[in-house]
Amino acid sequence: MASTVSAPTTHGELSELPTMAFGTCKVGFGKCEFLRNASPTDVDEGEVEAAILGAVAAGYRFFDCAQFYMNEAAVGRALQKSGLPRSQYFLGSKVWPDNIYGGAEPVVAQLRRSIQDLQCGYLDVYLVHWPVPGESGKKPGKHVAAYKALEDFTRGVAGERGNGNEVLIQRLGVSNYRVADFEELTRSGLRVFPYCNQFEVSPDLCRERTIAYFHAKNVKIQAFRSLGSGRLVAGVAAEAQDRGAERQKRLQSGEQGSKNQNATERAGGESELSSGAGDGREEEGRVFSAVCDVLEELNRGGQSPRTAEDNAKSAAESNADRRITASQVLLRWALQRGFTVMPKSLSRVRQEENIAASDERCGWRLSDAQMARLNGLTTTTALARFQGQYEHCIVANTALEGSMKGKIAFTDIDLARTV
Ligand SMILES: NC(=O)c1ccc[n+]([C@@H]2O[C@H](COP(=O)([O-])OP(=O)(O)OC[C@H]3O[C@@H](n4cnc5c(N)ncnc54)[C@H](OP(=O)(O)O)[C@@H]3O)[C@@H](O)[C@H]2O)c1
Repeated sequence: MASTVSAPTTHGELSELPTMAFGTCKVGFGKCEFLRNASPTDVDEGEVEAAILGAVAAGYRFFDCAQFYMNEAAVGRALQKSGLPRSQYFLGSKVWPDNIYGGAEPVVAQLRRSIQDLQCGYLDVYLVHWPVPGESGKKPGKHVAAYKALEDFTRGVAGERGNGNEVLIQRLGVSNYRVADFEELTRSGLRVFPYCNQFEVSPDLCRERTIAYFHAKNVKIQAFRSLGSGRLVAGVAAEAQDRGAERQKRLQSGEQGSKNQNATERAGGESELSSGAGDGREEEGRVFSAVCDVLEELNRGGQSPRTAEDNAKSAAESNADRRITASQVLLRWALQRGFTVMPKSLSRVRQEENIAASDERCGWRLSDAQMARLNGLTTTTALARFQGQYEHCIVANTALEGSMKGKIAFTDIDLARTV
């Protein structure tokens, strides 16, 4: 079996969480387009078992779970089946707004439920999934009471030398918090400083001032959707295919051309871009183009990057034929920026491909120039998606559902593309 990614070595002592986790959202719901339309009874137990056993065999030792994913019981059964001792893997989970809105009692009940479902005894990290506000904007938000209720069960506050409660949480953190939410929480007088903030980061959504703020506070950033939920990988593959076809055409006609001609066309023209004009598709084209450029450099010779599946096939014949893929460039960029990543895949080949980009396994790094090429590409579309999702989710499944549209003041620190 390939080496694992930061398996804990000392039972009972806190060791660093691995920076490469396995995302479990939609695992068991592969056939369902939107998780919010699914019910817990729809979970495909076989799909969960195959994904988790595959991930364990591939070397993942940190699983990002949540109440909202409706699959924790199946994940727990699969982990038991894997035979891995509890001391050899890490588990994270999150409490959803319905319970946060309900107050301390349902929040703690959900914590216990997740631990029971995951059959894990304790969670290595537990997060308040969204900063649920107070009724009609009343301060403090409901997320503050939820966090404080969870502190009672967190290492440092709970335990023999603490309040006598069982230690159910090793590290307590938050997710999808804007700076203003975080400040509201920390101003309220905490006993446990938040360990992390988990939010979306990828080259097309990199909110630099928010990131700088959390780095400065020493709050770990756990980045989700590093692959743009697969959209970025697919966009880069299409770009690479276009470039390959273009090259072929030029070869046949004996023409010379700029290697980035296609990327420029996809992005809608260089002059328009550099002046900051252009629609969302042009901006997105810039992201695909930048990843493609980096891939061509890394794979020397300008060949089209291959998919994880192609790589696996060629590697069966010769390791030298294995090439770096788009997903690996996206993951390395995030890791080298200092974020934890948590790619989700139902495919064993892609699970292997993704973990091969981890710090422990990866034999290459992006250069400073390549990192710079992937920075500063945040798109207007991604920023709007972030705002819409925030407004929707902070009150999802609560009596306030739908009431926040247009009511949140997103400031420069939330939306800035540069520091
Ligand atoms: N805190 C939050 O609010 C929050 C929100 C969203 C997500 N998350 C966490 O972050 C995790 C990841 O987010 P995500 O699943 O939305 O996005 P993601 O990891 O960016 O992308 C997953 C998608 O990419 C595909 N994929 C994975 N590896 C690939 C590869 N090597 N090549 C090509 N395609 C690949 C997967 O398809 P296949 O499965 O078919 O391979 C899947 O459709 C979630 O599972 C969850 O744990 C947290």
